[in-house]
Amino acid sequence: MDIKKLNEDFANADATQILEYFIKEYGRDAALSSSLGAEDQVLTDKILKIDKNANIFTLDTGRLHPETYDVMDATNLKYGVKLEVFFPLNDAVQDLYQSQGINGHYESIENRKNCCGVRKMEPLKRALAPLKVWITGLRAAQSVTRTDMPVVEYDENFGVIKVNPLINWSEEDVWNYIKENNVPYNKLHDQGYPSIGCAPCTRPVEKGQDIRSGRWWWENPEHKECGLHAK
Ligand code: ADX
Ligand code: SF4
Repeated sequence: MDIKKLNEDFANADATQILEYFIKEYGRDAALSSSLGAEDQVLTDKILKIDKNANIFTLDTGRLHPETYDVMDATNLKYGVKLEVFFPLNDAVQDLYQSQGINGHYESIENRKNCCGVRKMEPLKRALAPLKVWITGLRAAQSVTRTDMPVVEYDENFGVIKVNPLINWSEEDVWNYIKENNVPYNKLHDQGYPSIGCAPCTRPVEKGQDIRSGRWWWENPEHKECGLHAK
């Protein structure tokens, strides 16, 4: 696959055209990883309109908000699907608890990365292992760590082609799409949470504040990637 050429071809393509290409070309070897946040709900709607059997999975870290489970349920019901769920390994969670307690992630970046490693990274690795294409809801405007991300790239860490169809979308584009298409969304977005991860590591932000400032708020912006999207 010529990634440079694909990026050139997609320079003026919209998100639906990008998704159509990968879903038709790769079928269930391509999957959306959904955090059930606003961007991923847009992609879920678009993808299931292209193919009802498309592959969409979520990582249930065991520390999600009840509202996140509500949107998972609402999505399954609305589209008549059952999103795949990947859970962390039982033994690894028990070991993590033994070594750093239940909320040890607040104590150091190392502890936080251990927790993300067990609860997100290993399950993601397992989910991506049989796949060729990984579709995400990343947007360039979300973070200083995401400004240079292209539409298509090869992810060395996971050995898959990573596709970011909404990379050039604004927050307003996302919400216009959700409203116009009646897409189910996480009710925490109405309560000041623009970006939603695990419950203990996400808090609401004031209007006008950096949209990811409520994630791992005790860390510097440059550290604020759990490893899922690290270079
Ligand atoms: S994170 O790395 O800080 O947690 P963020 O919440 O911005 O990521 O989401 C960016 C993209 O990462 C999402 O669009 C989705 O593709 C993927 N992602 C994040 N969290 C999950 C999750 N729990 N399950 C599946 N995919 C996820
Ligand atoms: Fe653990 Fe927080 Fe990472 Fe979730 S976001 S896996 S609770 S450190």
